[in-house]
Amino acid sequence: MAPSARSTRGAPRLAVASPQSSYKITLLPGDGIGPEITAATVKALNAAGATKGVSFEYDEQLLGGCAIDAAGTPWPEATLKSCQAADSILMAAIGGPKWDGNPRELRPETGLLAMRQELGLFANLRPAKAIPQLLEASSLKPEIVEGVDIMVVRELCGDVYFGKPAGIFVNDEGHRVGQNNMIYSEPEIERIARVAMDVAAKRGGKCCSIDKANVLDVSQLWKEVVIRVHGEQWKDSVELSHMYVDNAAMQLVRWPKQFDTIVCGNIFGDILSDEASMLVGSLGMLPSASLPSEGPGVFEPIHGSAPDIAGTDAANPLAMILSAAMMCTYDLAQPELGQLLEDAVEAVLDDGLRTKDIVSEGATDQTLVGCVAMGDAVAAKVEALAKVLA
Ligand code: IPM
Ligand code: MG
Repeated sequence: MAPSARSTRGAPRLAVASPQSSYKITLLPGDGIGPEITAATVKALNAAGATKGVSFEYDEQLLGGCAIDAAGTPWPEATLKSCQAADSILMAAIGGPKWDGNPRELRPETGLLAMRQELGLFANLRPAKAIPQLLEASSLKPEIVEGVDIMVVRELCGDVYFGKPAGIFVNDEGHRVGQNNMIYSEPEIERIARVAMDVAAKRGGKCCSIDKANVLDVSQLWKEVVIRVHGEQWKDSVELSHMYVDNAAMQLVRWPKQFDTIVCGNIFGDILSDEASMLVGSLGMLPSASLPSEGPGVFEPIHGSAPDIAGTDAANPLAMILSAAMMCTYDLAQPELGQLLEDAVEAVLDDGLRTKDIVSEGATDQTLVGCVAMGDAVAAKVEALAKVLA
């Protein structure tokens, strides 16, 4: 993927302006399968770095459930400090049934939301690109998903996630009322719209803005501002369209190839990005980037912490390895390393290696491997590919 989403007014910038020989990475393994896929990813990333004499200095920190257990809070101060001092942040996954019954301030997700807000990670890029080797892993027909290449640009710091007032109150009639507020200010819409236009201009040149403007005032403002931003400097490079969110949910499974870049608010993006991810087969394959206007971004797989398979070596580390690839490209000014990691992932799939979540039953040309073996295979492939290129 071409480096994008940077340098245009209001759009995220590279955290590191020019390539360096060593980088400080805050590592957030989190919960469940997190530590296993982190170990595999570190191996692959180190192997990639070594091919160019680039080294990574990791500072492992607590986030989510493990942080609640060890530090009494899902987002410890030490983690914030480390993130602020890092060139970039690589995260695995958080959460699990162990903490599901906790009060909101002691839930793993609360740590994640605090991190997004305190690091200003407003632009969430979630690519959903069909992987030719995994077409049959999708629940849709191969002809529908073949060639799908969508980038969901999700706003990550606003909307019902953060709108105030929020809580459970007692109303005048004495009934309990649960309340969250869907709020977007004009500047919040402007900055995410600029990122989306920039991304779209560097991809397929099409941007579909998702809203519920037939019902919601906040969506009406969203649509107006997106149209204005588009008119500022992307009229020639980006074809802008609009779709109501209910229709978008349907169109995504009906004919996903109509989409290139999708831009939406936080809650619509949460839902649609999960839907888009299933087009390409497995959640276990999809990376994401969360970028601020300044400072380090957070790179993480889209999937969760899969507590049911934690500790069994059954996890798929590829989405996190692909997240490390995005980190190299978007944050570290090392797009060749990003490309190398992506090529290595594709090559191990070509070799037939599959973790449990992506193996096809009865296939004779596939080998079922665990998380450790998959990480080792990608690392070895990185070295082999680098030798061929040298
Ligand atoms: C995501 C997740 C989070 C969200 C949860 C874990 C808070 O679903 O990153 O999509 O809702 O944003
Ligand atoms: Mg989600």
